[in-house]
Amino acid sequence: MIVSNWKMNGTKSDIEHWVNKVSNKIDYKSHIKCIICPPSCYLDSTRQVISKIDSPIKLGSQEIDSTNSGALTGGINAQMLKDFSTEYVLIGHSEQRDHLNEDNITLRFKLDSAIQNGISAIFCIGEPAEVKLAGNTENFLSEQLEILTPDDLDFITIAYEPIWAIGTGLNADKKYIESIHQFIKTYLNKLNKEKNISVVYGGSVKLENCEDILSCNNVDGLLIGGASLDPDTFSKIYNIS
Ligand code: 13P
Repeated sequence: MIVSNWKMNGTKSDIEHWVNKVSNKIDYKSHIKCIICPPSCYLDSTRQVISKIDSPIKLGSQEIDSTNSGALTGGINAQMLKDFSTEYVLIGHSEQRDHLNEDNITLRFKLDSAIQNGISAIFCIGEPAEVKLAGNTENFLSEQLEILTPDDLDFITIAYEPIWAIGTGLNADKKYIESIHQFIKTYLNKLNKEKNISVVYGGSVKLENCEDILSCNNVDGLLIGGASLDPDTFSKIYNIS
């Protein structure tokens, strides 16, 4: 899968323009999903344009709350996402782990909520720079992965996004990406041997480095922030995949 994460960027018309342009420019392959995660307030307008032009682009949410209903001002639950035909949701993105103080317990509730409502989770993990420098990445990622159960593996994709690579222009090098993706796949394989879980990479993916990253062993796709906002760049990256 190739995923565009808009974060808190764009307007309704920017996103409509993007969907129209990308739908025309990509050479869509059914085994490589093309997903847009717009800001929540634009989920419905994005859904409408996707449906109007019968685009192969799938809709993903940047957010889901850990409870299903109740007094949570600003909350958005799985049922609401389903009303917008949302098929994917990002869970555990480092920006949310950080800003919302999300811990493993909260993230487990979010995963349950998505999975029970038939929404596929893109579960994001990644280490900060100091953990990498200390050579402690695998332990750190294990603690993030430990909330997963064997049954989850039918409904999730893992996104490995080293925090030090997000928005910095410093993507991880090929050798590092390969070794971490191999580690994640081995970890998941111990959880459930039957499943071959997709692991996508994110963190300063650009047109210039995407081919190199996609050629890494065990990289099954990309989660792209900044570079994905331009529809021409995103379409080129998708077509290279
Ligand atoms: P950038 O591609 O802007 O580094 O963002 C990566 C990311 O956080 C995608 O979820």
